[in-house]
Amino acid sequence: MSFGPARPLEQLFATRSSIKWRRYPADVLPVFVAEMDFDVDPAILDRVGETLRNSDTGYLDSAGPLAPAFARFARDSWGWEVVPERVHLATDVTVGVVEALRLAIPEVAGRVVLTPPVYPPFFEMVEEADAVAVTVPLIEESGWALDLAGIERAFADGADALLLCNPQNPTGRCHSRGALEALAALAARYGVFVVSDEVHAPLAHPGAVFTPFAPVAAAAGARSVTVTSASKAWNLAGLKCAVIVAADDWSARLLTRLPEELAARTSILGLHANVAALSCVKWRDSLLDLLVDNVRLLEAELAVHAPEVRVVQPDAGYLVWLDFRATGLGDDPARVLIDEGRVALNSGVPFGEPGRGFARINLACNPETVVEAVRRIAATVAAARGRVLLAG
Ligand SMILES: Cc1ncc(COP(=O)(O)O)c(C=O)c1O
Repeated sequence: MSFGPARPLEQLFATRSSIKWRRYPADVLPVFVAEMDFDVDPAILDRVGETLRNSDTGYLDSAGPLAPAFARFARDSWGWEVVPERVHLATDVTVGVVEALRLAIPEVAGRVVLTPPVYPPFFEMVEEADAVAVTVPLIEESGWALDLAGIERAFADGADALLLCNPQNPTGRCHSRGALEALAALAARYGVFVVSDEVHAPLAHPGAVFTPFAPVAAAAGARSVTVTSASKAWNLAGLKCAVIVAADDWSARLLTRLPEELAARTSILGLHANVAALSCVKWRDSLLDLLVDNVRLLEAELAVHAPEVRVVQPDAGYLVWLDFRATGLGDDPARVLIDEGRVALNSGVPFGEPGRGFARINLACNPETVVEAVRRIAATVAAARGRVLLAG
């Protein structure tokens, strides 16, 4: 393992071609899309390099070595006993979610429950599966918990599936075991299929408890699959490989009907990168230490320079949900922050109705970048404060 500070920002702008470094001009500090500034673990580079050196660059037809590697990681991390034969490949997490939904819901006008604020592509994935989204917002007053009564109403009303985000993007919430057990019981009672996106799970912060949904679902007699990847925790999104894992016998049979091409559309380099990543636990642990420090730094800096901005304390991941409702920056603070502050966060608006007045910041960066982001946020908030005073 050799986790270290990210390269200087000028170098990242010069060497990286991904959205984070290309969407805005270089005077805009990019702390938006879920990509990390850090270098990939060298063990992953070695494995991908070896794959290339062997010209092992053809098509895949199964999860191969990734199935036992994922099963080992799930057992060691969360005590979840995965059956390797139930691990299937998908091009990425979003493709895996769409393919799983397509198999389980009616071909036209299926209804899928979403719990906003939630990762914006969830809305697109539901559309891609020719389904309609039914939204049951998280309960902010309960720490962004699942609204189980609302979910039961949606289930009783005929929902076909629920797309769970655990840990939740953008709030970073690890749903409690109790909430997941209650959700699984409801899913079993109403015959609703649950797809659990757990891509942020390897980044549960020290002290936080992440509960995988699959064993809870299986124990309750619910039907469920989990879709995940090393793409977030080890910054491998561009390598295109994810897994879909069946939680129960019914879902295991369902997944045998996945399109055959799905494995062939998954990158063989991505598969080897995922296998290597799942052993890179020390690199991940060093990253987690830095992320926890960055969250503390963000809170401390905001408390001094922009106390109107409130931090939703995450349990997992490197994305932090910021509440700007007391700042006077309006429904879409990220817009003003880019235009005036030259700092790019993700707008809260596409995360669904509860995202108004919020923005999401990415802390997978050096502490200096966090400090600079807060400086720019604070200047923008102060300018808005000044305008309010003048108007008054
Ligand atoms: C909850 C969630 N699911 C899926 C993804 C995308 O994963 P992938 O690139 O493997 O499709 C992200 C990316 O940020 C995410 O936050």
